[in-house]
Amino acid sequence: MRIGVLTGGGDCPGLNAVIRAVTRKGIEAHGWEVLGFQNGWQGPLEGLTRPIGLDDVEDILARGGTILGSSRTNPFKVDGGVDRIRKVLADNGVDALVAIGGEDTLGVAARLFEEHNFPVVGVPKTIDNDLSATDYTFGFDTAVTVATEAIDRLHTTAESHNRVMVVEVMGRHTGWIAVVSGIAGGADMILIPEQPVSIEDACKELRRRHERGKDFSIVVVSEGYELEGMSEAQDVDQFGHISLSERGVGAALARQIEARTGYETRVTVLGHVQRGGSPTPRDRVLATRYGLKAADLVEARKFGRMAALHGDEIVDVSLAEATAELKTVPAEWWTVAQAFFG
Ligand code: F6P
Repeated sequence: MRIGVLTGGGDCPGLNAVIRAVTRKGIEAHGWEVLGFQNGWQGPLEGLTRPIGLDDVEDILARGGTILGSSRTNPFKVDGGVDRIRKVLADNGVDALVAIGGEDTLGVAARLFEEHNFPVVGVPKTIDNDLSATDYTFGFDTAVTVATEAIDRLHTTAESHNRVMVVEVMGRHTGWIAVVSGIAGGADMILIPEQPVSIEDACKELRRRHERGKDFSIVVVSEGYELEGMSEAQDVDQFGHISLSERGVGAALARQIEARTGYETRVTVLGHVQRGGSPTPRDRVLATRYGLKAADLVEARKFGRMAALHGDEIVDVSLAEATAELKTVPAEWWTVAQAFFG
């Protein structure tokens, strides 16, 4: 068999670990050839390929980013996109495809399987942890680790200068990174899209804290939090997403907190730092287990499926189920965070 592999969407720590696992298992255990498609779905659309051998995946386990490159290309927005992919796969003798990505990349994979019977399996990647049908996506643990370390470091400046420090983290329309890093970093207030806490209620908590004799606070805000009165960015990508970082919710929030409370406030936007660099051991292991599972799914011809984590077990679920809706932060997590507000 000849297997294609692609990585789509935002880069994410652990992508190379998946590529390594699929390649090692594919070549060593199953005797396949592995062909990399470059830049996400742009690869199979435009025939951008590179063969992947065992030498290519040496020393990439700990490396961030993706040796295949990535993009947010949506073949369903391109005229004749599906037929072009079908032809490229046929021309390259590709029998099956492993798509590594988040809701957009895997949403394309799900449609290619459901509507056009493409032989594709998926691997759940995203720092946002917002994919359904899996407990965790790889990349999330690294992003939370980076954000938690930043919050720890910001504590010292907050304390020394009696300031409110606002930390804006990624996560798109879910607050997973904010809630988990906020709990781990001891945040005094966390604002996420799932919980419509008003700016005034947030400020009340900060005042309450200061009345208790604490003269500094850490506020973690998710980039997708709906702050009253904010205008939306206009540009959308091929999947219809606006760029949330351009809204600048952290800076707007910091201005409002200072104006309403009188406490000196600063903002730190963590941005792509959360996605960069080496994956944590947990992400390396999760990505590796997902890659091995994806290879097994292909070998068993279980197409339309995605590797997933349920408890401590790697299982497979349907791509359609995984991409049907976003996995938002449940109330139980919010209750844990809330216990430490103010
Ligand atoms: O989906 C991952 C993610 O990092 C989101 O958290 C963020 O909103 C988005 O990608 C940023 O995308 P870009 O790299 O295109 O700025």
